[in-house]
Amino acid sequence: MEDKIIYGGDYNPDQWLDEPEILEQDLRMMKAAHINEVTLGVFAWASLEPEEGKFTLDWLEEIVNKLYANGIKTIMATPSGARPKWLSDKYPEVLRTWEDGTKAQYGGRHNHCLTSPIYREKVRIIDTKLAERFKDNPAIIAWHISNEFSGECYCPSCQKAFRGFLKKKYGTIEKLNHEWWNAFWSHQYSSFDQIDAPSNIGEKGTNGLMIDWKRYATEECDNFIDNEVNALRDAGATQPVTINMMYDFGGYDYNEQKNHIDIISWDSYPDWGFSESDIKPALEHGLCHDSMRCYKDKPFLLMESCPSGTNWQQTHRLKRNGLLPLAAIHAVGHGADSVQYFQIRAGRGSCEKFHGAIIDHTCREDTRVFKEATKTGELLLKLADVAGSQTDAKVGLIYDRQNEWAIDMSEGPRNCGEGYLEQTQKFYNALKRNAVDVDVISEPHDFSKYKILIAPMLYSVRGDVLERIRDFVKNGGTLIATYLCAMTNENDLCFLHDTPHDLTDVLGVRLDEIDGLTDEQSNKALTVDGAMGLDKSYSCNKICELITLNGAEPFMKYGEDFYAGSPAATVNHFEKGKAYYLATDLEDDFYKKFLEKVLADANVEPLVKKLPSEIDIQSRVRDGRRYIFMENFSREDKKVKLPKGAKMIIGDESEEFPNTSAKVFTVEE
Ligand code: GLA
Ligand code: ZN
Repeated sequence: MEDKIIYGGDYNPDQWLDEPEILEQDLRMMKAAHINEVTLGVFAWASLEPEEGKFTLDWLEEIVNKLYANGIKTIMATPSGARPKWLSDKYPEVLRTWEDGTKAQYGGRHNHCLTSPIYREKVRIIDTKLAERFKDNPAIIAWHISNEFSGECYCPSCQKAFRGFLKKKYGTIEKLNHEWWNAFWSHQYSSFDQIDAPSNIGEKGTNGLMIDWKRYATEECDNFIDNEVNALRDAGATQPVTINMMYDFGGYDYNEQKNHIDIISWDSYPDWGFSESDIKPALEHGLCHDSMRCYKDKPFLLMESCPSGTNWQQTHRLKRNGLLPLAAIHAVGHGADSVQYFQIRAGRGSCEKFHGAIIDHTCREDTRVFKEATKTGELLLKLADVAGSQTDAKVGLIYDRQNEWAIDMSEGPRNCGEGYLEQTQKFYNALKRNAVDVDVISEPHDFSKYKILIAPMLYSVRGDVLERIRDFVKNGGTLIATYLCAMTNENDLCFLHDTPHDLTDVLGVRLDEIDGLTDEQSNKALTVDGAMGLDKSYSCNKICELITLNGAEPFMKYGEDFYAGSPAATVNHFEKGKAYYLATDLEDDFYKKFLEKVLADANVEPLVKKLPSEIDIQSRVRDGRRYIFMENFSREDKKVKLPKGAKMIIGDESEEFPNTSAKVFTVEE
C-alpha cells in the first residue's frame, strides 16, 4: 500500500475544534515522533453532520491537507460506529434491541440495529459526502469502515432477516427441522415464520439454531459493510477499504467477512506486563497476527495498539522501557505493514481520558512514552523495505471460528471447557519455540503449500475440508490431528458411523469413548520404547479419548485408570504421507519435543538454530531475500548465534541479545 511501514494511529481533532493551537502542537509532535499517518473521523459524525442534512466537512479537509503538507497521510474512517443524538431521537428504530427484547436507549457506541433501512440510508448519505470530498485527495491512503463491528440486534426487522437467511439456506422447513434435530423436545417448526433468534429467555439448547444465528449475524454485518463500501465506490472513491477486527471477539467469522474488504486490519492489546515474562502475550498475539495475515495471505495493518496502559484492562500496566519498539517489530515480523496506536492524543474527559496516548495531558515531548514512540518511529524507518513482503510458512495450523462456535455451544464432553484455543496455542507456542513461521488458517484455506498441517480439535467439519485433508496426506504431507476430530457436520449433527469421519483410514484409528477429566484430575501418557526421542512420561489432562487402532502404530499409551495400556498417541502411514493422532491433551513439554522431531522429519528448517526460550522469531521474504525478526521478550539478557551471512538492520551481529530488544537482519537465499 505504501513503500514504508505506516506509523500513526487514531487521532480525534474533532474533540479539539475550539482549540486550534492544539493541532499545531500535535503536528509538531507527530513529526518529531516520525509519524506518517493518522486515522481520522472515527466517531466524528456529530461534527460532520450536526443537524440532519447540514454537512460541515471543511474543518476535516483543512486538517487532512495540513497534515499532508507535513508528510502525514490519512486513513479516513466512516463515522457509523456512533451516532448523533438527533438521529436516534428522530429515528428511534436505529437503536438496537437486546437479546431479552428490551430496546437500547441513546448512548454508547457500536449499538445500532444491523438491518434498519433508515440507519443504512443515513450512513450512506454521510459516507457519500465524505467520499465526494476526499476521493481525489492524495492524502487519503485507505478507508476505514466504521469501528470494531460487533454484536447482534433482536428487533422484528432483524428476526425477519434471520428467517430469510434460513429459508435461503435450507429451502424447506423439513430440512431445517432435520439439520437442527428439532424432534428433540418437540421443537419442530411448521413454517420459517415461527423461528426466533436464540435467546436467554427462549431457546438456547438447539446448537444448529445458535450456530446459524452467528452465521446470519456475520452475513448481516457483511451487508452493512457492503452498504458503506458501495456508498464510497458509487461516489467515486477508489482507495482500498478495511475494517478493524478484534481477535478475542468470536461474534463473527472474519474468514467470511474478509471477502467484503480489501485489506485486513486489527486491534491488538496484549496483556504486556501482567505476568513475569512477556513471551506469553507475545505468543498469544503472535497467533492472532498470523491468523489476520492468513485471511488474505497478505500483509495486514495493525490498526490499533496501546502506547502505554489502557483504561479498560484489569489494571493500567505501563510498558517497561524498550517494549513499545519491541511490540512494533514483533507485529511487523508477523506481517503487519503498519504500527498504529489508539491514540495519538488523549482526550480530556469521558471514559477514555486515562487511556494511553503518544501525546498525554502534559503535552510534553520529554515524557518516557513520547521518547519510546519516537524511538519506535526511528526503527520503523529502517524497516521501510519490508513493506509488502510476504510470509512463506511451511506449517499450517487450523483455528476455525465456526468450529469454535460448535465446540463452545455443545454441552459435553467437558462443560468446564474443552479448551480449543488453549490446545491451538500449545501447538503454536511449540512451533515458535522450534523457530519456524506458522500460518494460522481456517477450514476453507488451501492446504497444498504446507509440509505439515495441524488440526487441533477439528470437531465440526464443513465443505470439502476432509477431502482436502485426505489429499494433503495422500500427496506426501504430514498431518497432526487430535482428540475431538471430525465428530459432527457443520450444523453440529453427529456422524452416524466411525469417527474421525472419513479419516479413520488416513489416521489409522477410530474413536470408542471420551473420558472428560475434571480440572484436578490427570492421567499419564507413557512413551513406547523411547519413540521419537520423547521423555518417558507426560501428564495428560482435560480429555482422554479411548481409541481403537485401525492400522496406526501407537507411540504413547495411557499409564493410569482402567484404560492404562491403551493407545494415547499414534502414527499412521497413508499413501505418500504420514498422519499423527493425539488422543489427549498433553503437557507443554511434549509439544516442543514432538514437533521438533516432526519438523525435522518433514525437512522444515528452523530460522535460527537453538533459539533460547522467551525469544520470538518470524520471517518475511521478497525476491530471494529473507528478513528475519527476533525479539527478546525476557527480562534477562540472552545469547543467540545468527546465521552466516546475516546483514543487520536492527541490533548487532554479536551473540549478545540484551533483554527487551530486537534483532532484525536479512539473509540471501
Ligand atoms: C477499541 C476501539 C477504540 C478505543 C480502544 C481503547 O479498540 O476501537 O475506539 O476505544 O478500544 O483501547
Ligand atoms: Zn434490528
